[in-house]
Amino acid sequence: MAVDLLLGLQWGDEGKGKIVDVLTQGYDIIARFQGGPNAGHTLEFNGIKHVLHTIPSGIFHESAVNVIGNGVVIDPVIFRKEIKGLKKYGIDFAGRLLISRKAHLILPTHRLLDAASETSKGKAKIGSTLKGIGPTYMDKTGRNGLRVGDIELDDFEERYRVLVEKHLELLGHYGVDIQFNLDELEADFFAAIEVLRGFELIDSEEYLYGALKSGKRILAEGAQGSLLDIDFGTYPFVTSSNTTAAGACTGLGVAPNSIGRVIGIFKAYTTRVGSGPFPTELFDEVGDTMTEVGREYGATTGRRRRTGWLDLVALRYAVRVNGVTELVMMKADVLSGFETLKVCTEYLYKGKKIGHLPYNIEPQNVSPVYTELKGWHQDLMGIKEYGALPKELLDYIAFLEKELEVPITLVSVGPDRTQTIVR
Ligand code: GDP
Ligand code: IMO
Ligand code: MG
Repeated sequence: MAVDLLLGLQWGDEGKGKIVDVLTQGYDIIARFQGGPNAGHTLEFNGIKHVLHTIPSGIFHESAVNVIGNGVVIDPVIFRKEIKGLKKYGIDFAGRLLISRKAHLILPTHRLLDAASETSKGKAKIGSTLKGIGPTYMDKTGRNGLRVGDIELDDFEERYRVLVEKHLELLGHYGVDIQFNLDELEADFFAAIEVLRGFELIDSEEYLYGALKSGKRILAEGAQGSLLDIDFGTYPFVTSSNTTAAGACTGLGVAPNSIGRVIGIFKAYTTRVGSGPFPTELFDEVGDTMTEVGREYGATTGRRRRTGWLDLVALRYAVRVNGVTELVMMKADVLSGFETLKVCTEYLYKGKKIGHLPYNIEPQNVSPVYTELKGWHQDLMGIKEYGALPKELLDYIAFLEKELEVPITLVSVGPDRTQTIVR
Protein backbone atom coordinates (compact mmCIF):
# COMPACT_ATOMS: atom_id res chain seq x y z
CA MET A 1 0.00 0.00 0.00
CA ALA A 2 1.06 3.57 -0.56
CA VAL A 3 0.52 6.89 1.17
CA ASP A 4 -1.49 9.29 -0.97
CA LEU A 5 -1.03 13.04 -0.54
CA LEU A 6 -3.56 15.86 -0.70
CA LEU A 7 -1.81 19.20 -1.09
CA GLY A 8 -2.81 22.82 -1.69
CA LEU A 9 -1.16 24.20 -4.81
CA GLN A 10 -1.76 27.92 -4.30
CA TRP A 11 -1.58 30.21 -1.25
CA GLY A 12 -3.75 27.99 0.96
CA ASP A 13 -7.52 27.81 1.49
CA GLU A 14 -8.01 25.82 -1.70
CA GLY A 15 -10.63 23.62 -0.04
CA LYS A 16 -8.38 20.89 1.38
CA GLY A 17 -10.67 20.23 4.35
CA LYS A 18 -13.69 19.63 2.15
CA ILE A 19 -11.89 17.24 -0.18
CA VAL A 20 -10.14 15.28 2.58
CA ASP A 21 -13.58 14.80 4.14
CA VAL A 22 -14.96 13.62 0.78
CA LEU A 23 -12.04 11.24 0.18
CA THR A 24 -11.91 9.81 3.72
CA GLN A 25 -14.37 7.04 2.86
CA GLY A 26 -11.57 5.52 0.73
CA TYR A 27 -8.94 5.60 3.49
CA ASP A 28 -8.27 4.04 6.89
CA ILE A 29 -5.98 6.79 8.19
CA ILE A 30 -5.87 10.56 7.63
CA ALA A 31 -2.57 12.10 8.72
CA ARG A 32 -1.73 15.82 8.97
CA PHE A 33 1.96 16.38 8.32
CA GLN A 34 2.80 20.06 8.86
CA GLY A 35 1.53 23.46 9.90
CA GLY A 36 -0.59 24.03 12.94
CA PRO A 37 -3.47 26.24 14.01
CA ASN A 38 -2.61 28.74 11.28
CA ALA A 39 -4.67 26.37 9.13
CA GLY A 40 -8.45 26.58 8.92
CA HIS A 41 -10.01 23.66 7.08
CA THR A 42 -13.75 23.99 6.49
CA LEU A 43 -16.11 21.01 6.22
CA GLU A 44 -19.78 21.30 5.29
CA PHE A 45 -22.23 18.41 5.38
CA ASN A 46 -25.77 17.66 6.62
CA GLY A 47 -26.30 21.35 7.33
CA ILE A 48 -23.19 21.45 9.57
CA LYS A 49 -20.32 23.84 8.90
CA HIS A 50 -17.20 23.15 10.93
CA VAL A 51 -13.67 24.56 10.79
CA LEU A 52 -10.73 22.38 11.90
CA HIS A 53 -7.29 23.79 12.71
CA THR A 54 -5.00 21.05 14.03
CA ILE A 55 -7.24 18.02 13.88
CA PRO A 56 -7.23 16.14 10.55
CA SER A 57 -10.28 16.46 8.32
CA GLY A 58 -11.20 12.79 8.54
CA ILE A 59 -12.46 13.18 12.09
CA PHE A 60 -16.17 13.08 11.15
CA HIS A 61 -15.89 9.58 9.69
CA GLU A 62 -16.17 6.89 12.33
CA SER A 63 -14.15 4.44 10.29
CA ALA A 64 -11.01 6.60 9.99
CA VAL A 65 -8.09 7.01 12.36
CA ASN A 66 -6.71 10.56 12.43
CA VAL A 67 -3.03 11.19 13.08
CA ILE A 68 -1.35 14.47 13.94
CA GLY A 69 2.16 13.94 12.59
CA ASN A 70 5.57 14.96 13.90
CA GLY A 71 5.77 17.83 11.39
CA VAL A 72 2.79 19.58 12.96
CA VAL A 73 3.07 22.25 15.66
CA ILE A 74 0.35 22.01 18.30
CA ASP A 75 -0.99 24.75 20.52
CA PRO A 76 -2.54 22.82 23.42
CA VAL A 77 -4.88 25.73 24.16
CA ILE A 78 -6.31 25.75 20.62
CA PHE A 79 -6.32 21.94 20.53
CA ARG A 80 -8.45 21.88 23.70
CA LYS A 81 -10.84 24.39 22.12
CA GLU A 82 -11.09 22.23 19.00
CA ILE A 83 -11.87 19.14 21.05
CA LYS A 84 -14.53 21.08 22.96
CA GLY A 85 -16.04 22.31 19.69
CA LEU A 86 -16.34 18.73 18.45
CA LYS A 87 -18.06 17.44 21.60
CA LYS A 88 -21.53 18.26 20.29
CA TYR A 89 -21.10 15.75 17.46
CA GLY A 90 -20.54 12.92 19.94
CA ILE A 91 -17.24 11.89 18.37
CA ASP A 92 -15.43 9.16 20.27
CA PHE A 93 -11.74 10.10 20.10
CA ALA A 94 -10.41 6.96 21.76
CA GLY A 95 -8.17 5.21 19.25
CA ARG A 96 -9.33 7.63 16.56
CA LEU A 97 -7.17 10.67 17.24
CA LEU A 98 -3.50 9.89 17.70
CA ILE A 99 -0.75 12.45 18.25
CA SER A 100 2.92 12.12 17.42
CA ARG A 101 5.24 12.52 20.39
CA LYS A 102 7.63 14.33 18.07
CA ALA A 103 5.19 17.11 17.17
CA HIS A 104 6.35 20.43 18.63
CA LEU A 105 4.42 22.45 21.18
CA ILE A 106 3.40 26.06 20.66
CA LEU A 107 3.90 27.93 23.95
CA PRO A 108 2.02 31.11 24.88
CA THR A 109 5.33 32.97 24.53
CA HIS A 110 5.67 31.71 20.94
CA ARG A 111 2.46 33.61 20.17
CA LEU A 112 3.86 36.71 21.88
CA LEU A 113 7.09 36.43 19.87
CA ASP A 114 5.06 36.12 16.66
CA ALA A 115 3.20 39.32 17.54
CA ALA A 116 6.42 41.13 18.48
CA SER A 117 8.13 40.06 15.27
CA GLU A 118 5.21 41.23 13.13
CA THR A 119 4.86 44.54 14.99
CA SER A 120 8.57 45.24 14.66
CA LYS A 121 8.40 44.65 10.89
CA GLY A 122 5.81 47.40 10.44
CA LYS A 123 4.73 47.66 6.80
CA ALA A 124 6.96 44.73 5.85
CA LYS A 125 5.00 42.33 8.06
CA ILE A 126 4.28 38.83 6.75
CA GLY A 127 0.61 38.99 7.65
CA SER A 128 1.05 36.00 9.95
CA THR A 129 -2.00 34.43 11.57
CA LEU A 130 -0.18 35.20 14.87
CA LYS A 131 -0.58 31.65 16.12
CA GLY A 132 3.10 31.36 17.01
CA ILE A 133 3.96 29.18 14.01
CA GLY A 134 7.22 30.89 12.96
CA PRO A 135 8.76 31.10 16.46
CA THR A 136 7.83 27.45 17.19
CA TYR A 137 9.47 26.14 14.02
CA MET A 138 12.46 28.40 14.79
CA ASP A 139 12.82 26.69 18.17
CA LYS A 140 12.48 23.33 16.45
CA THR A 141 15.30 23.97 13.98
CA GLY A 142 17.26 25.85 16.65
CA ARG A 143 17.01 22.69 18.77
CA ASN A 144 15.36 24.44 21.67
CA GLY A 145 11.78 23.30 21.19
CA LEU A 146 9.46 21.36 23.44
CA ARG A 147 7.74 18.35 21.96
CA VAL A 148 4.49 16.62 22.78
CA GLY A 149 6.48 13.65 24.13
CA ASP A 150 8.07 15.96 26.71
CA ILE A 151 4.78 16.21 28.58
CA GLU A 152 5.35 12.59 29.64
CA LEU A 153 8.64 13.53 31.33
CA ASP A 154 8.93 14.35 35.03
CA ASP A 155 10.79 17.58 34.39
CA PHE A 156 8.44 18.96 31.74
CA GLU A 157 7.72 22.09 33.79
CA GLU A 158 11.42 22.83 34.27
CA ARG A 159 12.05 22.45 30.56
CA TYR A 160 9.12 24.74 29.92
CA ARG A 161 10.52 27.32 32.35
CA VAL A 162 13.97 27.33 30.68
CA LEU A 163 12.44 27.98 27.26
CA VAL A 164 10.09 30.68 28.53
CA GLU A 165 12.99 32.52 30.16
CA LYS A 166 14.72 32.56 26.76
CA HIS A 167 11.55 33.82 25.12
CA LEU A 168 11.07 36.65 27.61
CA GLU A 169 14.61 37.79 27.00
CA LEU A 170 14.07 37.65 23.25
CA LEU A 171 10.83 39.60 23.56
CA GLY A 172 12.79 42.44 25.15
CA HIS A 173 15.04 42.62 22.09
CA TYR A 174 12.18 43.47 19.74
CA GLY A 175 11.67 46.80 21.48
CA VAL A 176 7.91 46.78 20.89
CA ASP A 177 5.15 47.03 23.42
CA ILE A 178 3.28 43.72 23.68
CA GLN A 179 0.80 43.54 26.57
CA PHE A 180 0.34 40.19 28.28
CA ASN A 181 -0.38 38.48 31.58
CA LEU A 182 1.96 35.51 31.72
CA ASP A 183 0.32 33.99 34.81
CA GLU A 184 -3.03 33.80 33.04
CA LEU A 185 -1.51 32.47 29.83
CA GLU A 186 0.40 29.81 31.73
CA ALA A 187 -2.59 28.68 33.78
CA ASP A 188 -4.47 28.19 30.54
CA PHE A 189 -1.53 26.42 28.91
CA PHE A 190 -1.02 23.92 31.71
CA ALA A 191 -4.74 23.19 31.94
CA ALA A 192 -4.69 22.45 28.22
CA ILE A 193 -1.62 20.22 28.64
CA GLU A 194 -3.75 18.09 30.96
CA VAL A 195 -6.30 17.66 28.17
CA LEU A 196 -3.51 16.69 25.77
CA ARG A 197 -2.34 14.06 28.30
CA GLY A 198 -5.73 12.37 27.89
CA PHE A 199 -4.97 11.53 24.25
CA GLU A 200 -3.00 8.64 22.85
CA LEU A 201 0.53 9.71 22.04
CA ILE A 202 2.34 7.63 19.44
CA ASP A 203 5.61 7.26 17.60
CA SER A 204 3.88 8.10 14.36
CA GLU A 205 6.62 6.91 12.01
CA GLU A 206 6.43 3.45 13.65
CA TYR A 207 2.66 3.50 13.65
CA LEU A 208 2.39 4.46 9.99
CA TYR A 209 5.05 1.97 8.95
CA GLY A 210 3.05 -0.80 10.63
CA ALA A 211 -0.18 0.46 9.14
CA LEU A 212 1.27 0.46 5.64
CA LYS A 213 2.67 -3.02 6.13
CA SER A 214 -0.71 -4.34 7.16
CA GLY A 215 -2.35 -2.88 4.06
CA LYS A 216 -4.00 0.19 5.56
CA ARG A 217 -4.79 3.03 3.18
CA ILE A 218 -3.32 6.36 4.28
CA LEU A 219 -4.08 9.88 3.08
CA ALA A 220 -1.70 12.63 4.13
CA GLU A 221 -3.41 16.00 4.57
CA GLY A 222 -1.40 19.13 3.86
CA ALA A 223 -1.97 22.57 5.30
CA GLN A 224 -1.36 25.94 3.64
CA GLY A 225 -0.27 25.73 0.00
CA SER A 226 2.82 25.30 -2.18
CA LEU A 227 3.33 29.05 -2.63
CA LEU A 228 3.56 29.38 1.16
CA ASP A 229 6.28 26.68 1.38
CA ILE A 230 9.32 27.81 3.35
CA ASP A 231 11.67 26.81 0.49
CA PHE A 232 9.57 27.08 -2.65
CA GLY A 233 7.02 29.73 -1.73
CA THR A 234 7.11 33.48 -2.17
CA TYR A 235 9.75 33.96 0.53
CA PRO A 236 9.74 35.71 2.96
CA PHE A 237 5.94 35.93 2.67
CA VAL A 238 5.49 32.26 3.47
CA THR A 239 4.81 30.02 6.42
CA SER A 240 7.60 28.23 8.30
CA SER A 241 7.16 24.65 7.11
CA ASN A 242 7.48 22.58 3.96
CA THR A 243 3.95 22.47 2.61
CA THR A 244 5.01 20.58 -0.52
CA ALA A 245 5.13 16.81 -1.10
CA ALA A 246 8.53 16.28 0.54
CA GLY A 247 7.06 17.76 3.73
CA ALA A 248 4.81 14.72 4.00
CA CYS A 249 7.88 12.46 4.21
CA THR A 250 9.59 14.53 6.90
CA GLY A 251 6.33 15.39 8.64
CA LEU A 252 5.13 11.81 9.02
CA GLY A 253 8.24 9.68 8.70
CA VAL A 254 7.13 7.92 5.54
CA ALA A 255 9.74 7.15 2.91
CA PRO A 256 9.57 8.76 -0.56
CA ASN A 257 9.06 5.37 -2.20
CA SER A 258 5.91 4.90 -0.10
CA ILE A 259 4.17 7.82 -1.75
CA GLY A 260 1.44 6.91 -4.22
CA ARG A 261 -0.99 9.44 -5.66
CA VAL A 262 -0.20 13.12 -5.27
CA ILE A 263 -3.51 14.95 -5.40
CA GLY A 264 -3.06 18.66 -5.99
CA ILE A 265 -5.93 20.96 -5.17
CA PHE A 266 -6.53 24.45 -6.56
CA LYS A 267 -9.28 27.02 -6.84
CA ALA A 268 -10.58 27.88 -10.32
CA TYR A 269 -9.21 31.36 -9.54
CA THR A 270 -6.61 32.53 -7.01
CA THR A 271 -6.75 33.88 -3.48
CA ARG A 272 -4.18 34.95 -0.95
CA VAL A 273 -4.49 36.17 2.62
CA GLY A 274 -1.72 38.14 4.29
CA SER A 275 1.10 40.08 2.61
CA GLY A 276 3.28 39.21 -0.37
CA PRO A 277 3.30 39.34 -4.16
CA PHE A 278 0.29 38.11 -6.14
CA PRO A 279 0.74 38.76 -9.88
CA THR A 280 -2.86 38.14 -10.98
CA GLU A 281 -4.46 40.05 -8.11
CA LEU A 282 -7.54 42.09 -9.02
CA PHE A 283 -8.35 45.44 -7.48
CA ASP A 284 -11.62 46.01 -9.32
CA GLU A 285 -15.24 44.88 -9.09
CA VAL A 286 -14.35 41.51 -10.67
CA GLY A 287 -12.13 40.79 -7.67
CA ASP A 288 -14.82 42.07 -5.31
CA THR A 289 -17.32 39.71 -6.93
CA MET A 290 -14.96 36.75 -6.41
CA THR A 291 -14.51 37.72 -2.76
CA GLU A 292 -18.24 38.10 -2.12
CA VAL A 293 -19.57 35.15 -4.18
CA GLY A 294 -16.72 32.91 -3.00
CA ARG A 295 -17.15 34.10 0.61
CA GLU A 296 -13.42 34.69 0.66
CA TYR A 297 -12.86 35.50 4.31
CA GLY A 298 -10.25 33.59 6.33
CA ALA A 299 -11.45 30.49 8.19
CA THR A 300 -8.92 31.15 10.98
CA THR A 301 -8.60 34.92 11.20
CA GLY A 302 -11.71 36.19 9.39
CA ARG A 303 -9.48 38.42 7.23
CA ARG A 304 -10.67 39.31 3.73
CA ARG A 305 -8.81 37.21 1.18
CA ARG A 306 -7.25 38.94 -1.82
CA THR A 307 -8.58 37.54 -5.12
CA GLY A 308 -7.44 37.28 -8.73
CA TRP A 309 -7.50 35.22 -11.91
CA LEU A 310 -6.02 31.75 -12.11
CA ASP A 311 -2.23 31.85 -12.42
CA LEU A 312 -0.99 28.91 -14.49
CA VAL A 313 2.65 29.95 -14.21
CA ALA A 314 2.45 29.50 -10.45
CA LEU A 315 0.23 26.43 -10.72
CA ARG A 316 2.55 24.70 -13.20
CA TYR A 317 5.42 25.35 -10.80
CA ALA A 318 3.46 23.81 -7.92
CA VAL A 319 2.49 20.79 -10.03
CA ARG A 320 6.16 20.15 -10.77
CA VAL A 321 7.57 20.74 -7.30
CA ASN A 322 5.03 18.31 -5.86
CA GLY A 323 4.95 15.73 -8.65
CA VAL A 324 1.17 16.07 -8.83
CA THR A 325 -0.49 13.05 -10.44
CA GLU A 326 -4.06 14.38 -10.45
CA LEU A 327 -5.82 17.66 -9.91
CA VAL A 328 -8.89 18.75 -8.01
CA MET A 329 -10.49 22.03 -9.09
CA MET A 330 -12.49 23.89 -6.47
CA LYS A 331 -15.08 26.65 -6.49
CA ALA A 332 -15.95 26.44 -10.19
CA ASP A 333 -19.38 27.78 -9.15
CA VAL A 334 -17.84 31.09 -8.10
CA LEU A 335 -16.86 31.83 -11.71
CA SER A 336 -20.46 31.52 -12.97
CA GLY A 337 -21.74 34.76 -14.44
CA PHE A 338 -18.54 36.25 -15.86
CA GLU A 339 -18.77 36.99 -19.59
CA THR A 340 -15.05 36.35 -20.07
CA LEU A 341 -12.56 34.50 -17.90
CA LYS A 342 -8.88 35.28 -17.88
CA VAL A 343 -6.13 32.77 -17.22
CA CYS A 344 -2.51 33.82 -16.79
CA THR A 345 -0.34 31.56 -18.95
CA GLU A 346 2.92 33.53 -18.94
CA TYR A 347 4.59 36.41 -17.16
CA LEU A 348 6.11 39.43 -18.75
CA TYR A 349 9.42 39.52 -16.90
CA LYS A 350 12.03 42.19 -17.61
CA GLY A 351 10.46 42.76 -21.04
CA LYS A 352 10.36 39.05 -21.97
CA LYS A 353 7.57 36.49 -21.84
CA ILE A 354 8.44 33.58 -19.57
CA GLY A 355 6.52 30.47 -18.57
CA HIS A 356 8.27 29.68 -15.29
CA LEU A 357 8.12 31.28 -11.86
CA PRO A 358 11.15 33.55 -11.53
CA TYR A 359 13.06 34.25 -8.31
CA ASN A 360 11.29 37.54 -7.82
CA ILE A 361 7.61 38.00 -8.63
CA GLU A 362 7.21 41.44 -7.07
CA PRO A 363 4.87 43.63 -9.19
CA GLN A 364 7.73 45.80 -10.45
CA ASN A 365 9.30 42.72 -12.14
CA VAL A 366 6.34 40.73 -13.30
CA SER A 367 3.06 41.33 -15.06
CA PRO A 368 0.65 38.56 -16.11
CA VAL A 369 -0.02 37.65 -19.74
CA TYR A 370 -3.60 36.46 -20.07
CA THR A 371 -5.50 34.09 -22.35
CA GLU A 372 -9.22 34.82 -22.45
CA LEU A 373 -11.84 32.11 -22.34
CA LYS A 374 -15.59 32.31 -22.63
CA GLY A 375 -17.49 32.26 -19.34
CA TRP A 376 -20.76 30.53 -18.45
CA HIS A 377 -23.91 31.70 -16.72
CA GLN A 378 -25.50 28.57 -15.29
CA ASP A 379 -25.64 28.06 -11.53
CA LEU A 380 -23.49 24.96 -10.98
CA MET A 381 -24.32 24.24 -7.38
CA GLY A 382 -27.02 21.65 -8.09
CA ILE A 383 -25.17 19.80 -10.85
CA LYS A 384 -24.25 16.20 -10.00
CA GLU A 385 -22.82 14.83 -13.25
CA TYR A 386 -19.70 15.84 -15.10
CA GLY A 387 -21.52 15.73 -18.44
CA ALA A 388 -24.13 18.22 -17.21
CA LEU A 389 -21.55 20.96 -16.66
CA PRO A 390 -21.76 23.84 -19.15
CA LYS A 391 -19.69 23.50 -22.29
CA GLU A 392 -17.64 26.61 -21.47
CA LEU A 393 -16.59 25.09 -18.14
CA LEU A 394 -15.61 21.85 -19.87
CA ASP A 395 -13.53 23.96 -22.26
CA TYR A 396 -11.95 25.76 -19.30
CA ILE A 397 -11.04 22.38 -17.74
CA ALA A 398 -9.66 21.05 -21.03
CA PHE A 399 -7.53 24.18 -21.43
CA LEU A 400 -6.06 23.80 -17.93
CA GLU A 401 -5.33 20.12 -18.44
CA LYS A 402 -3.47 20.87 -21.65
CA GLU A 403 -1.43 23.61 -19.97
CA LEU A 404 -0.68 21.64 -16.81
CA GLU A 405 -0.34 18.19 -18.40
CA VAL A 406 -2.19 16.56 -15.48
CA PRO A 407 -5.82 15.36 -15.45
CA ILE A 408 -8.47 17.13 -13.40
CA THR A 409 -10.31 14.23 -11.78
CA LEU A 410 -12.62 16.07 -9.41
CA VAL A 411 -14.54 19.32 -9.73
CA SER A 412 -16.14 21.06 -6.76
CA VAL A 413 -19.23 23.20 -7.34
CA GLY A 414 -20.18 24.21 -3.81
CA PRO A 415 -18.99 24.01 -0.21
CA ASP A 416 -21.08 20.98 0.72
CA ARG A 417 -19.71 17.43 0.73
CA THR A 418 -22.32 16.48 -1.88
CA GLN A 419 -21.38 19.29 -4.28
CA THR A 420 -18.45 17.32 -5.63
CA ILE A 421 -18.33 15.91 -9.13
CA VAL A 422 -16.08 12.93 -9.73
CA ARG A 423 -15.11 12.57 -13.33
P1 GDP B 1 -8.71 24.84 3.23
O1 GDP B 1 -7.91 25.64 4.19
O2 GDP B 1 -7.93 24.46 2.03
O3 GDP B 1 -9.37 23.64 3.86
O4 GDP B 1 -9.89 25.79 2.72
P2 GDP B 1 -10.77 26.79 3.64
O5 GDP B 1 -11.74 25.99 4.42
O6 GDP B 1 -9.91 27.72 4.38
O7 GDP B 1 -11.45 27.65 2.52
C1 GDP B 1 -12.27 27.10 1.54
C2 GDP B 1 -13.66 27.76 1.62
O8 GDP B 1 -14.37 27.51 0.44
C3 GDP B 1 -14.51 27.22 2.74
O9 GDP B 1 -15.35 28.23 3.20
C4 GDP B 1 -15.31 26.12 2.04
O10 GDP B 1 -16.54 25.86 2.68
C5 GDP B 1 -15.54 26.75 0.71
N1 GDP B 1 -15.64 25.82 -0.43
C6 GDP B 1 -14.97 24.67 -0.65
N2 GDP B 1 -15.27 24.18 -1.87
C7 GDP B 1 -16.11 25.04 -2.44
C8 GDP B 1 -16.76 25.11 -3.71
O11 GDP B 1 -16.58 24.27 -4.59
N3 GDP B 1 -17.58 26.18 -3.94
C9 GDP B 1 -17.79 27.15 -3.01
N4 GDP B 1 -18.59 28.17 -3.33
N5 GDP B 1 -17.19 27.12 -1.80
C10 GDP B 1 -16.37 26.10 -1.53
P1 IMO C 1 -4.86 26.61 5.29
O1 IMO C 1 -4.32 25.26 5.75
C1 IMO C 1 -4.03 30.61 3.88
C2 IMO C 1 -0.52 32.63 5.55
C3 IMO C 1 -0.75 33.81 6.45
C4 IMO C 1 0.52 34.60 6.19
C5 IMO C 1 1.57 33.52 6.03
C6 IMO C 1 2.35 33.20 7.30
O2 IMO C 1 -6.16 26.94 5.89
O3 IMO C 1 -4.84 26.66 3.79
P2 IMO C 1 1.83 32.02 9.60
O4 IMO C 1 0.70 32.17 10.56
O5 IMO C 1 2.02 30.65 9.07
O6 IMO C 1 3.10 32.61 10.15
O7 IMO C 1 1.45 32.98 8.36
O8 IMO C 1 0.87 32.36 5.62
N1 IMO C 1 -1.23 31.39 5.96
C7 IMO C 1 -2.29 30.89 5.33
N2 IMO C 1 -3.01 31.37 4.30
N3 IMO C 1 -4.34 29.41 4.41
C8 IMO C 1 -3.62 28.90 5.42
O9 IMO C 1 -3.82 27.65 5.89
C9 IMO C 1 -2.57 29.66 5.97
N4 IMO C 1 -1.68 29.48 6.97
C10 IMO C 1 -0.87 30.54 6.95
O10 IMO C 1 -1.90 34.51 6.08
O11 IMO C 1 0.41 35.28 4.96
MG1 MG D 1 -8.01 27.47 5.20
